[in-house]
Amino acid sequence: MDLFEYQARDVFEKHGVPVLAGAVATTPEEARAAAEKIGAKSGGVTVVKAQVKTGGRGKAGGVKVAKSPEEAEALAAQILGMDIKGHIVRKVMIAQGARIAEEYYFSILLDRAHRTYLAMCSKEGGMDIETLAVERPEALARIAVDPNVGIDDAKADEIFAAAGFPEADRAAITAVMKTLWEVYREEDATLVEVNPLVKTEEGDIVALDGKVSIDGNSEFRHPEHDEFVDHSKTDPLEVLATEKGLNYVKLDGNVGIIGNGAGLVMSTLDVVAYAGQDLAAATGGPASGPANFLDIGGGANAEVMADGLDVIFEDAQVKAVFVNVFGGITACDAVADGIVQAYAILADHGKHPKPLVVRLDGNNAELGRHILDEAALPLLERVDTMDGAARRVAELAAAAK
Ligand SMILES: Nc1ncnc2c1ncn2[C@@H]1O[C@H](COP(=O)(O)OP(=O)(O)OP(=O)(O)O)[C@@H](O)[C@H]1O
Ligand SMILES: [Mg+2]
Repeated sequence: MDLFEYQARDVFEKHGVPVLAGAVATTPEEARAAAEKIGAKSGGVTVVKAQVKTGGRGKAGGVKVAKSPEEAEALAAQILGMDIKGHIVRKVMIAQGARIAEEYYFSILLDRAHRTYLAMCSKEGGMDIETLAVERPEALARIAVDPNVGIDDAKADEIFAAAGFPEADRAAITAVMKTLWEVYREEDATLVEVNPLVKTEEGDIVALDGKVSIDGNSEFRHPEHDEFVDHSKTDPLEVLATEKGLNYVKLDGNVGIIGNGAGLVMSTLDVVAYAGQDLAAATGGPASGPANFLDIGGGANAEVMADGLDVIFEDAQVKAVFVNVFGGITACDAVADGIVQAYAILADHGKHPKPLVVRLDGNNAELGRHILDEAALPLLERVDTMDGAARRVAELAAAAK
């Protein structure tokens, strides 16, 4: 889960990372009131910042300096509702204005390739860090961080030296690095990034912008993270799927997908996308494509299958569904039984099926196919190859338009 900047700011403050005063506003009037309070600490100057979970806000016009509460109100009116890379701005943060002398960069992240954590640091931070990373990678220090040790005094000194900071700032900068490590570890983050970490004209080191991503697997030990969940953004079908404990992601096509195992589902999305494009190229019609990712996992019992079909049938965009199962520990006959019972459960709830193509392969495939044939479920077709099934479901989806 990615946090908004204002949430990251609050988390930083809780752990003792130096931040500036900030408050969230959802209307220009609230922005003005916040600017009256916050600006009092910085000669009336505040910064109005779009709260969206994407980078490059400044360059998109989502970060603006206001010299008075009136100006903050006007800027908030401009920024609220803006579309930044497909994210609509619903909140702004009013931040105390800083007098910036230097902009640095610092982050801690998960380095999957090397199975470790990585700290990245540069004394040339700010809005062009992405360009810097590509054009002058040597200006961005990358230091591996042992998860068992973290950023202790020695590691902080190593990062400090690699980034080439001025000696005078050693104490302040290494202290911030160590505190940001505390944030990373204690919040179970997979990313903590501060860009810019600034040195002010007054000589203070302050985190001006923060990005924090929290590892979803740590949910059980952080009930306090519930407050970070952004309900405004969540798709209603994803909410329904989460309630049912399904591993579901909504996409924007018209072919519902169910599979067992994340890898199989990912490749199913690909073959369905290809089949949809092929068919569209041949017929000149619009292309069909996957409407969702849904992995029902290994233990695909009837209830899980019914829940999965239920969520997918609820999706008004779905015109046809592809159930792609490779029987392993859960054999195909159990999955076939699951589908048959799922139909019964859905019928009990007065729900109607949509055209469904099932491909069963692997453990007990023959038996599973036999069960489906015997059941003769309405709108269900059996196709035994993955490509063949993808082509057929694309045809059904296209025909349903
Ligand atoms: N409180 C502040 N006071 C003064 N200047 C600020 C303040 N906050 C941001 N700035 C200036 O605006 C620039 C962009 O701000 P910020 O880093 O928050 O957004 P961004 O980098 O565009 O967004 P993102 O990190 O999402 O790409 C900063 O590099 C800094 O120069
Ligand atoms: Mg930034």
